[in-house]
Amino acid sequence: MNSLEFYRQRFEKRLSEYLTAYPVKYSPVWDAVVYAVSAGGKRVRPALAYMGARMARGEFEKADKVALGVEFIHNYSLIHDDLPCMDDDDLRRGRPTVHKAFGEGIAVLAGDALLNMAFECVGGEGDTSRYIAAMSGMRGMVGGQCLDLANTGGAGVEGADKLDEINSLKTSALFKAALVGGAMICGADDKLCSALENFADGLGKVFQIVDDLLDVLSDSDALGKSAGQDEKNGKVTYVSLLGVEQARKRVVEINEESKRTLMPYGEAADELIALADKLADRVR
Ligand code: IPE
Ligand code: IPE
Ligand code: MG
Ligand code: MG
Ligand code: MG
Repeated sequence: MNSLEFYRQRFEKRLSEYLTAYPVKYSPVWDAVVYAVSAGGKRVRPALAYMGARMARGEFEKADKVALGVEFIHNYSLIHDDLPCMDDDDLRRGRPTVHKAFGEGIAVLAGDALLNMAFECVGGEGDTSRYIAAMSGMRGMVGGQCLDLANTGGAGVEGADKLDEINSLKTSALFKAALVGGAMICGADDKLCSALENFADGLGKVFQIVDDLLDVLSDSDALGKSAGQDEKNGKVTYVSLLGVEQARKRVVEINEESKRTLMPYGEAADELIALADKLADRVR
């Protein structure tokens, strides 16, 4: 079993326990929450939370809270990202998007509920919860989605630097929340947190360029979401800006650069480096 699969299985178990024990379940918002979070997905962010804990030589039990919290925030960000007022997507993880299945109002509320569930998980965790809040909000994912909303091929995006900024905020920030959060909750020192933060920044950028490449290279069945969506929405991406081959090259460059940030940690970082290569190799 590879480590992504190992952590995925741990996470699915914790998630199902959490959902079963949740005390208040108003339908249909609760049904929409369960529909969104139980639909599979790669569970990359929970794996990062556990890998962060391992880098800090901490217990996976502590990282469970971060894994749940960040995956809840990720799922809320996807529900809202799919709304007609954002990317207007009908398909997610091989099923109708939440607003298609439950209506827009319930989709908005399910996202809101998930964000609050995240802080029920990590809220008592001082620095860790403040860090996750910052990475999810204006200084992170929400800020990136705000810039991305203006990215419709007009004045918003001039070039690669702007794309790096958008990708770092909208995607790397939640990777940082997971990886650094998982290490922080286990008492990691500033030096380790800063190395993991640099690595997660590169990993998230790679992940988003790969996602943009798959949007043009793959079909909807393979993706579980509608292909060709970025072009339909007029998004400027590395692929539209520089073409498929240059975008692929950029994936390799950023990946090599971010792996180098973990060199001082030797074999302890092998698991993270293997994950980075696995995610980058999706478009090779
Ligand atoms: C999709 O994230 C949104 C991006 C940041 C590109 P994932 O590709 O991790 O989505 P799931 O959770 O596996 O469905
Ligand atoms: C989404 O990026 C990033 C988020 C913060 C939700 P995309 O819009 O490219 O993600 P997909 O392709 O819909 O999964
Ligand atoms: Mg989007
Ligand atoms: Mg989208
Ligand atoms: Mg995409």
